[in-house]
Amino acid sequence: MKRFIVMGLAFAAALAFSAPALAADGAAIFKTKCSSCHGQDGAGSAMAPAFKGNSFIQSSSETDIAQVIKNGRNGAEKKYKQFAIGMPKQTLNDDEIKAVVTQLKTWAK
Ligand code: HEC
Repeated sequence: MKRFIVMGLAFAAALAFSAPALAADGAAIFKTKCSSCHGQDGAGSAMAPAFKGNSFIQSSSETDIAQVIKNGRNGAEKKYKQFAIGMPKQTLNDDEIKAVVTQLKTWAK
């Protein structure tokens, strides 16, 4: 019996350690961190631009898009006059940014 408990614990520990290795889910990250401003599925809103058919996303490198996400875009850098606020800098790790950029590229096509 004791052996089964030990094995069970070892299995649970293995699961716990393998979880963070799962690939970041761009759509899920977008939903929790971005959709309040950028709209459901990147459709845009009165607060922030859409990503569907977005020419900045289409023509920019992943690195340049990642820079905007990491650093935000405010003040003199702001591009869209129709939105009152700027883009606030986001705290995401590199894997999460990569996943979310892939999602934006898919919507922008
Ligand atoms: C508080 C609202 C808000 C949140 C949350 C937000 N953004 Fe933004 N974002 C903006 C605004 C406003 C702009 C437009 C800034 C400007 O005028 O250049 C913008 C611009 C951008 C741009 C540049 C788009 C372009 O056409 O030039 C990218 C890329 C971007 N956001 C990605 C994201 C991602 C990814 C997230 C989530 C991790 C996110 N944003 C979360 C408000 C937000």
